[in-house]
Amino acid sequence: MCGIVGYTGKKQAAPILLDGLRRLEYRGYDSAGLAVRAGNSLTEVVKATGKLYHLADKTDQGRSLPGTCGIGHTRWATHGDPSLINAHPHVSGNCSGSGKVESDVVGVHNGIIENYGELKEKLLRHGYQFYSDTDTEVVVKLVDYYYKKYRIGPVDAITRTMVRVRGSYALALMFKDYPEEIFAARKDSPLIIGTAENAVYLASDVPAILKYTRSVYYIGNLQVARLSPGCAKFFDLNGDEVALPVTEITWDAEAAEKGGYEHFMLKEIHEQPAAVRDTLNSLIKEGRIDLTAAGITDEIIRSLSQIVITACGSAWHVGMAAQYVIEDMVEIPVRVELASEFRYRSMPLNENTLVIVISQSGETADSLAALRLAKERGAITLAVVNVVGSTIAREADHVLYTLAGPEIAVATTKAYSAQLAALDAFAVQMALVKGTVSREQYGHMIEELLGIPDKIGRVLEDKERLQWFSSKIANAHDIFFIGRGLDYAISLEGSLKMKEISYIHSEAYAAGELKHGTISLIEKNTLVIGVLTQSRMIEKTIANMAECKSRGAYLMGITTNGNFAVEDSVNFTVYIPKTDEHFVSSLAVVPLQLLGYYTSVNRGLDVDKPRNLAKSVTVE
Ligand code: G6P
Repeated sequence: MCGIVGYTGKKQAAPILLDGLRRLEYRGYDSAGLAVRAGNSLTEVVKATGKLYHLADKTDQGRSLPGTCGIGHTRWATHGDPSLINAHPHVSGNCSGSGKVESDVVGVHNGIIENYGELKEKLLRHGYQFYSDTDTEVVVKLVDYYYKKYRIGPVDAITRTMVRVRGSYALALMFKDYPEEIFAARKDSPLIIGTAENAVYLASDVPAILKYTRSVYYIGNLQVARLSPGCAKFFDLNGDEVALPVTEITWDAEAAEKGGYEHFMLKEIHEQPAAVRDTLNSLIKEGRIDLTAAGITDEIIRSLSQIVITACGSAWHVGMAAQYVIEDMVEIPVRVELASEFRYRSMPLNENTLVIVISQSGETADSLAALRLAKERGAITLAVVNVVGSTIAREADHVLYTLAGPEIAVATTKAYSAQLAALDAFAVQMALVKGTVSREQYGHMIEELLGIPDKIGRVLEDKERLQWFSSKIANAHDIFFIGRGLDYAISLEGSLKMKEISYIHSEAYAAGELKHGTISLIEKNTLVIGVLTQSRMIEKTIANMAECKSRGAYLMGITTNGNFAVEDSVNFTVYIPKTDEHFVSSLAVVPLQLLGYYTSVNRGLDVDKPRNLAKSVTVE
């Protein structure tokens, strides 16, 4: 959600900034802009609405903008429509569009300033004029206000602003009096700094700078950075310099490229065996599950009397699946709550409650808020996170990292699967410690888990059939995904994968619930997809599918090898390999991902960047 990039060094900045913005496209945006400066000359601002290539065309791929220092932004509209005037960068002076600007401060912002209305009034009283509807213009002008009022230099002007604003932000600013320097600050929105010889890079996420450097600083919450070619300094809210550690990124640069695939989503679907294998290998050592890296000891596990899982989107679906698995294996109450609803529930949390926050990005605003609330209420917190050093990872008591590597497509696939595998392993270990499975069962479950990556590979081999089937359903109006128990949790993810990238309306229903209303929507040829992997529920779900068929529905079923009776009841069957039924979600989800993917491709849509969506949702 909004992407920020920055560069100061010896090379021409604009092409580097455009390249960085391109790599952040997955975050979602509807307009973009650059501000670049050559030495002491005036800063030049260029903006464009729509796709990034409009901005690239306007600047001859960046070549027409001289200067070695600059900032760039892709905007996902929050305050004000996606227009040229609202696009970033914003400036402190009297200017709203593109061109050379006299202004003292130029800036870009990701996040939401909650008290921008009151700050705007204050600035209006001090003679500032506003051109856009954005909260960003207010922040840039507030920095300018303090900068001039106290004549205190950029870092202090920024810290004064940070004390005054409420909300979340990642800011990158350039000051007219400080050529070749960029100033940055953050609170609850991601921002990283990369350093290389004679150059510093700034970005919302690692893939934007991976091509240039692997040495990264994670600016802390409420910290400010002062960047000049080859040098990054950090300050706290008092303006005192702080030392931050450098993190070496281990992803190889190709991980963030398409590598011959037509879309990132297809590449990431194919990376699932590796993502799951790497994640499991980090947790399973010599036939035992070892959670010590996450700091989860047997003692902690023994002390737990309940588990609450909270997350958003697909990560919440992982929570739904984990709920069935943990309850069944460990016999402990598990509750799953949408992170955006977490604060509205009066849940009894205490030191015997483990709150698990699942998040690919580790930056989702609602998940972060839920984590903070859980800590405040005295629960033990565990983050299951993919992005190393992200805010949720840093703030949770314990972190279990998934090793999915960078995920670029907005619709998650490999991060979902890695999260699922991590939680399955976690459930197995809990079951052993709590004594609800025997050593023998434990050993068998670990073997089954370790077999999952190859089995995902086998499901992928069958993708042509799904490609063919998706061409038949590309014009569907409604699709229903149904299942019971764990199959219901998989249906939720299958339905989301379909609707978010194909724009076909779809719903997931607990199969038994259909008859309480939804069945009235079934018409001739409405597609109903049944997930049929839990042996004790298959017959019942088939019966629900038959109810749909007799009202004209067309049926597809996903089931495990050997359940050949399914074929007699549905029109199109997809088989997945057999495994312990607790872990079957990791296999059943793959055909559903492929179905969503190919349907989107067949409809000619932007698979990796579906309209209105953002990969990382950093506003509440
Ligand atoms: C967005 C993404 C989803 C993701 C959700 C939670 O909506 O499009 O794919 O599941 O955010 O993101 P997180 O980074 O917390 O897993």
